[in-house]
Amino acid sequence: MLLEGKTALITGAARGIGRAIALCFAREGCNIAFTDIALTDEVRATEAELLALGVRAKAYASDASDFDDAHTIVNQVVADFGAIDILVNNAGITRDALLLRMSEQQWDDVIRVNLKSAFNYTHAVVPVMMRARKGSIISLASVVGIAGNPAQANYAASKAGIIALMKSTAKELGASASCRHTRRSRTGRPLPRLRHVLLRLRPSPLHRWCHGVESSLSNISSLSDREIVAAYRYS
Ligand SMILES: NC(=O)c1ccc[n+]([C@@H]2O[C@H](COP(=O)([O-])OP(=O)(O)OC[C@H]3O[C@@H](n4cnc5c(N)ncnc54)[C@H](O)[C@@H]3O)[C@@H](O)[C@H]2O)c1
Repeated sequence: MLLEGKTALITGAARGIGRAIALCFAREGCNIAFTDIALTDEVRATEAELLALGVRAKAYASDASDFDDAHTIVNQVVADFGAIDILVNNAGITRDALLLRMSEQQWDDVIRVNLKSAFNYTHAVVPVMMRARKGSIISLASVVGIAGNPAQANYAASKAGIIALMKSTAKELGASASCRHTRRSRTGRPLPRLRHVLLRLRPSPLHRWCHGVESSLSNISSLSDREIVAAYRYS
């Protein structure tokens, strides 16, 4: 299995793409620590599904946009699992409105949850990965962070910020960052897009290969588990 014995920490993984990544990684032998805003039935159901795959799994209640909370959770995960090999900054929200109708609250909420969360968890986890001299950080961005989108000035700005955050972090650490995006369908037409940014602390030949593997988690059902995991695989 591609991720046997590794540990991934995924934010906001009770449902949606975060949950799909958690299950996909777990099927490849990865232990999963994941957070969500509260320990709801949905969270417990995801945790049970992960455990049923025979890996270690634990859910943590955490507001990813809270700086201190993020650091507490990372310390707790290291204590519980012994390591964090992969961080997935996934937690995200939308509060769509046309610019002139967008409230300060809508702007602040989206920047705080989407962008500050990625900073919080990256800031907390990098020392752990530096000590281990290896690690991968995946942050869910979006194609609208490149292109912009009507009624999503807050969301697009947060995702553009994530791309810049990851690229800057990579430069500081002497690591490599890559953005991957649209995957072409068999007909040659682009599939619905999800742009995410991958930061690796230890470049590898696989990383170069990954540049050629354009994958889209928004169309996760069209990809095999191995295809997705291979794109993020720890070398
Ligand atoms: N769905 C898409 O088409 C799409 C496209 C591009 C990018 N993305 C990005 O992918 C990520 C996941 O999207 P999704 O569609 O699965 O979203 P979703 O709303 O289905 O799931 C998001 C999860 O994050 C959790 N969450 C929200 N705020 C949180 C916080 N402060 N702390 C911790 N957890 C929190 C939610 O409870 C939920 O479980 C987001 O970052 C999103 O911006 C999604």
